[in-house]
Amino acid sequence: MKRNVKFLLPLLALTLIACTSDGESDLEEMEEMEEPNGPVTYNANIRAIINSNCLNCHSDPTRNGAPFSLTDFQQVSVRADNGSLSRAINKQTGDAGAMPPSGRLPQTTIDLIDQWIDEGFLEQ
Ligand code: HEC
Repeated sequence: MKRNVKFLLPLLALTLIACTSDGESDLEEMEEMEEPNGPVTYNANIRAIINSNCLNCHSDPTRNGAPFSLTDFQQVSVRADNGSLSRAINKQTGDAGAMPPSGRLPQTTIDLIDQWIDEGFLEQ
């Protein structure tokens, strides 16, 4: 009896370790596959970026010579669809048509907008 227990304990310990590390790698795989906060949407992600970086000029009515307003989903999605939104935010500061003109958005913000466009610019 005593001998059996001695034999089983290391086996039990090994099984536990194996299970634990399996569980961890499963979790990591799931996290890599899933987008952390679901798809990027205008309502959840994009509107706030536009509001704080673009509406100084692309307001309604527009200011500072901006040719159109970007105050709602319809107006932003037209430029997402025709490519001008991504083109403008990806230009280098100082290049003609770089948006915002005062300086490039952080790369993570640009990537998020591009991801939103790639995913079909969902409203919600
Ligand atoms: C300081 C004012 C100002 C701000 C802030 C601004 N814009 Fe503009 N935007 C303009 C003006 C003026 C034009 C037209 C002249 C030009 O293209 O440079 C324009 C043009 C554009 C165009 C058309 C470009 C093209 O090639 O037809 C897009 C798209 C655009 N802006 C998007 C944005 C976005 C997105 C933001 C915020 C991230 C932004 N703008 C911030 C003033 C501004």
